[in-house]
Amino acid sequence: MSILVTGGAGFIGGNFVLDWLGVFDELVITLDKLTYAGNCETLVSLAEDERHIFIQGDIGDAECISQLLARYRPRAIVHFAAESHVDRSIHDPEAFIQTNIVGTFCLLEAARTFWNSLEGEAKADFRFLHVSTDEVYGSLAKGAAAFTENNRYEPNSPYSASKAASDHIVRACHHTYGLPVLTTNCSNNYGPYQFPEKLIPLTIVNALAGRPLPVYGDGQQIRDWLYVKDHCSAIRRVLEAGRVGEVYNIGGWNEKPNIDIVHAVCDILDELRARADGVSYREQITFVTDRPGHDRRYAIDARKIARELGWKPAETIANGIRKTVQWYLDNPQWIANVQSGAYREWVEKNYSDRAEKPAV
Ligand code: NAD
Ligand code: TYD
Repeated sequence: MSILVTGGAGFIGGNFVLDWLGVFDELVITLDKLTYAGNCETLVSLAEDERHIFIQGDIGDAECISQLLARYRPRAIVHFAAESHVDRSIHDPEAFIQTNIVGTFCLLEAARTFWNSLEGEAKADFRFLHVSTDEVYGSLAKGAAAFTENNRYEPNSPYSASKAASDHIVRACHHTYGLPVLTTNCSNNYGPYQFPEKLIPLTIVNALAGRPLPVYGDGQQIRDWLYVKDHCSAIRRVLEAGRVGEVYNIGGWNEKPNIDIVHAVCDILDELRARADGVSYREQITFVTDRPGHDRRYAIDARKIARELGWKPAETIANGIRKTVQWYLDNPQWIANVQSGAYREWVEKNYSDRAEKPAV
């Protein structure tokens, strides 16, 4: 038995592969293009592990995928591979269309051909699990009910629009061809191995380097935060028992304004790695020009997955952030290795023309 994991050298996919092999004794084939966000070092502990095979490849490469499926005959595909950063989608949306929409379509076509070639139990048990985001539902007003699986789609960024399109194609493949798909829409993940372009790792890395901690707009945008290991356990559960064709929202029941998250990171750093001058890292917070079209609030209603599959997140936000900060403190080499020239170029591109705003 084996599973194919796309995007397994990225943040969530990497955590998922490590988590999976900690639980199951089953071959995992990781397919990853190794874009700027893919990092083989995340999987370095598996270098000698015969249960893991890494293949560098693109989900948009039909021949590569077909060959992989024919050779390893996985019982499931867990699809993480994507362009995932909203700010990058604003600067350069094309890669998002290519990977998230065209790439997902290509992967689905190969999966469908493979699935059609199966018989009996192998065909009945095959699953295509598509990992998506709460951002497809758009922005919530303060006090409005959290997103359920029945919310209408209102994506606002090129990233969320591309993920929304991929969700629709996945759905259509089930409805039209019967491909046994599962879709999960998840809130903001945080934890070990996250690329320091996203809010929490960026705050940690900048704080330690003595750089400004950029907070967009007034910092009152709200996200629901989910510890990545909880996301991994939810995906395992959906794969195991989710009803084919269904969508499951996954969330941490942790709605927080961005500024509270940045404060929490600063306070933990003050405790674990105080600045030499004794001043709080909060002093480095800098309010900057907002993200265009910035969604004000996301919130996930995760009652369906709790009711149907008995899944609930295990981590509290306070403990999850503490563990995350500790992980970055313990892994300076991982951080140094991802901060390549390309990373520095991105920081320059995204932050150089964001004027500093007076504190709110
Ligand atoms: P990430 O950017 O850290 O990793 C993406 C991985 O996909 C990288 O390893 C990259 O090399 C790979 N990849 C990109 N294009 C590829 C292609 N064409 N072919 C093969 N591999 C390719 O992303 P992440 O944060 O780990 O997110 C994983 C998935 O979860 C994405 O689908 C994302 O939309 C979704 N998601 C993320 C979050 C979050 O908070 N990070 C929340 C909800 C949903
Ligand atoms: P991010 O981690 O990029 O995730 P997403 O946009 O997918 O939610 O951003 C989380 C929130 O933090 C979002 O509201 C944007 C905000 N943010 C900042 O305020 N400053 C930053 O430098 C970054 C990267 C994000």
